[in-house]
Amino acid sequence: MQIIDGKKVSAEVKAQVAKETELLKSKGIVPGLAVVIVGDDPASRVYVNNKKKACELVGFKSEEYALPAQTTQQELLDLVETLNDKKDINGILVQLPLPEHLDEKQIIEAINSIKDVDAFNAVNVGKIMIGDYDFLPCTPAGVMEMLSYYNIPVSGKNCVVIGRSNIVGKPMAMLLLHQNGTVTICHSKTRNLNEICAGADILVAAVGIPKFVKADMVKEGAVVIDVGMDRDENGKLCGDVDFDDVKEKTSYITPVPGGVGPMTIATLMKNTLKACKLQNNC
Ligand code: GUN
Repeated sequence: MQIIDGKKVSAEVKAQVAKETELLKSKGIVPGLAVVIVGDDPASRVYVNNKKKACELVGFKSEEYALPAQTTQQELLDLVETLNDKKDINGILVQLPLPEHLDEKQIIEAINSIKDVDAFNAVNVGKIMIGDYDFLPCTPAGVMEMLSYYNIPVSGKNCVVIGRSNIVGKPMAMLLLHQNGTVTICHSKTRNLNEICAGADILVAAVGIPKFVKADMVKEGAVVIDVGMDRDENGKLCGDVDFDDVKEKTSYITPVPGGVGPMTIATLMKNTLKACKLQNNC
């Protein structure tokens, strides 16, 4: 069993982004990311802080817009419009989830596709579907980068994704398919979930339920990727995989924290750099 070190892979990706940023700066171009957070969800606050830190590390300009929980739809739309027009901002990220009274879909669609570094809006999702994309979805692309770094082949493998969210499950399945994996998406209505998972060469858990994946759901020698960011019964950060129960059966496994999380941020940095280059024709 080998633990996949997301921190290490992410540091290498960010170092590469920093190198390219240096080059852009010598031409007078500085990539800029705007991060918008509405309300005071503690998990979102941690994610946003980590994104800002990563921007500093790679040499981007970052702007944070922290809005109160009672912000109206129109106020948020106005902010997105302002950021769409801002020349020194290349990427716009609205941290999800938004407070319930806000229409998330409308906000995402209001972001100019060329600044949509999360790759959440319909144009970018459509491009991912046909395999002709500018921006890769951050978490799934981070997972693919880790697989590639550890020379884990995907082609012809049975890949099972648990979870069908727009942020992770659906685009994850699509990227595995692009690499010629045979992909099954499981969800809350799936029958024989345990058996399907136990047939996976590569198992990706993105359900949001702490320690959901147990040893009997894992094939001997499987690669297990844990996208979960959950809290266990003691309030301690854990993933969707019961790491201690599962680890000995796997060939590779990602820990939580230190697995997928840092890779999501590394991809965000790559996307922002790409957005900057596209917007400056370089
Ligand atoms: N909330 C959880 N993951 C993400 C992400 O990748 N991007 C944004 N904007 N919000 C999130």
